[in-house]
Amino acid sequence: EAASEALADGILTVGTNAEFPPFEYVGDDGEPDGFDIALIKAIGEKLGVEVQVENMEFDSLVASIGSKVDVSIAGMTVTEERQQSVDFSDSYYEAVQYVILPEGSEIATAADLEGKAIGVQLGTTGDFIASDDIADAQVSQYNKGMDAVNDLINGKVDCVIIDKNPALVFASKFEGQLTAVDGAEFGFEPEEYAIAIPKGDAALVAQINAALAEIKTDGTFDELVETYIEN
Ligand code: ARG
Repeated sequence: EAASEALADGILTVGTNAEFPPFEYVGDDGEPDGFDIALIKAIGEKLGVEVQVENMEFDSLVASIGSKVDVSIAGMTVTEERQQSVDFSDSYYEAVQYVILPEGSEIATAADLEGKAIGVQLGTTGDFIASDDIADAQVSQYNKGMDAVNDLINGKVDCVIIDKNPALVFASKFEGQLTAVDGAEFGFEPEEYAIAIPKGDAALVAQINAALAEIKTDGTFDELVETYIEN
């Protein structure tokens, strides 16, 4: 199969939203870092291209794929709606939404979420659950998940719905004040993260999947999980 034209210039430009630890965050040097960034750099190495990461708002990523950037890696969940506009690589991580609550909150079941003030990151699956699936929710959408968490601390929202690993990181910043609860207890479904690729670029999907498979078999993937996620 022919190589993707997207790689012809020797550069893979990658959109992310570095507000989602441990998958992507701004490192001490001001550059995006995290599991996803290390993973896409490892993929670039296998493909023999230089990786350039562009940090942007999560909500603008899907529309930027194939125009402003070649691909996106951003802890992005594969959804049917996104598949209307982009293709996805094989998935590389299983996630689920978590509910961050103040210690002592009485919210414990899906029914308890009804009518509540819920903070989410704009355009995420947590946003879709809160906005579409929870009756009478008053949803506050933030560009940064951490801003939603700060408003939870300030009492402006009753809970925050966000992916498992960022929920654990954010809640741990407020130990004794916040707790992160597995969304499975609220009936939330498992989600799969994958790299988003311009729709129809089958060559790029195949190249990225081949690199990902190599990274999984040669041990690099497990090393990255240990370095960034299970530390
Ligand atoms: N997994 C969720 C989604 O796809 C949230 C991803 C947020 N990622 C980020 N880098 N801010 O909607």
